[in-house]
Amino acid sequence: MAETWVRMVTAQTPTNIAVIKYWGKRDETLILPVNDSISVTLDPAHLCTTTTVAVSPSFVQDRMWLNGKEISLSGGRYQNCLREIRARACDVEDKERGIKISKKDWEKLYVHIASYNNFPTAAGLASSAAGFACLVFALAKLMNAKEDNSELSAIARQGSGSACRSLFGGFVKWKMGKVEDGSDSLAVQVVDEKHWDDLVIIIAVVSSRQKETSSTTGMRETVETSLLLQHRAKEIVPKRIVQMEESIKNRNFASFAHLTCADSNQFHAVCMDTCPPIFYMNDTSHRIISCAEKWNRSEGTPQVAYTFDAGPGPNAVLIARNRQAAARLLQKLLFYFPPNSDTELNSYVLGDKSILKD
Ligand code: ADP
Ligand code: DP6
Ligand code: CO
Repeated sequence: MAETWVRMVTAQTPTNIAVIKYWGKRDETLILPVNDSISVTLDPAHLCTTTTVAVSPSFVQDRMWLNGKEISLSGGRYQNCLREIRARACDVEDKERGIKISKKDWEKLYVHIASYNNFPTAAGLASSAAGFACLVFALAKLMNAKEDNSELSAIARQGSGSACRSLFGGFVKWKMGKVEDGSDSLAVQVVDEKHWDDLVIIIAVVSSRQKETSSTTGMRETVETSLLLQHRAKEIVPKRIVQMEESIKNRNFASFAHLTCADSNQFHAVCMDTCPPIFYMNDTSHRIISCAEKWNRSEGTPQVAYTFDAGPGPNAVLIARNRQAAARLLQKLLFYFPPNSDTELNSYVLGDKSILKD
């Protein structure tokens, strides 16, 4: 009689938002970037992926369901992650279920994967980051891989570059690395989530539409055609990374906000410098920027930083210096983008500080 056991592991991983952006690869297969990047990992209570991975001798092939719909695992990225974790699988003794799996058994066992994002997929809110980080983490637990989170980040990176940064909380740096096999292109924590807990992150989710140009295609075209990107990667970002790390370590909001906004704007400038140009932002995004810039100037010191990812239209990430600034920011957003108008913003608020609907 065929064996009928199933072993399952569930993991939950938050998304991350880059404050110094990754845009451009030097190696498309290994996913090696042209510059370092730094991000902040969000509170898992709001934007996160939940992935369950299961193994059973009755499974006859690897399969995956994303948000309830079966997707093909034939793409290189899923195969690379599965292969890398399988190569690190160890003996498992699951006493609760009375299951023993030896290192060698993993070569002939298949997995089923079910993953849900509690926020829009492929809409510029880094679903690929939370998705691949969660997949790699859950598989590593299922197969009892012994690698630490930095080592796992180098595997998640091969699913989606930004995913390597979601294996840590707080502020995280993805070091571009130097060696050809990519083994030193991985994430390290800059500071943990408690270091700067005054910050309040507000995400204005305006459009849950899928973006027209995926991050992968967009950055490939930028690498092929933008001269500005070369200048950015070689001259600008290395200096900004040092300054950003300092600002974060010293909790210097003025410098943090200046660098975050400047880097978001330069990222969209290299998109515009791509041939044909890529437009991720729209009029509403530009109005959000003007509103933040005007407010920061009128206060004499920055109250809010903004950053926009590669999403459809105005989806904005706003980082307020503290709760008072966040409350005032929400008042402003409600005033300039009133509910039930064409430019209504449906806000998700980080942590337990939810003021608008979510
Ligand atoms: P985003 O801005 O949401 O990161 P991308 O274009 O970078 O958009 O990536 C979207 C792709 O990431 C999806 O088409 C899918 O292949 C993958 N993805 C999204 N969510 C998950 C998930 N939970 N598990 C695995 N892969 C995912
Ligand atoms: C604008 O990590 O989604 O969000 O590596 O091709 O999967 P692939 O791209 P992805 O790109 C993210 C780009 C960004 C900036 C960032 O997260 O650093
Ligand atoms: Co992505």
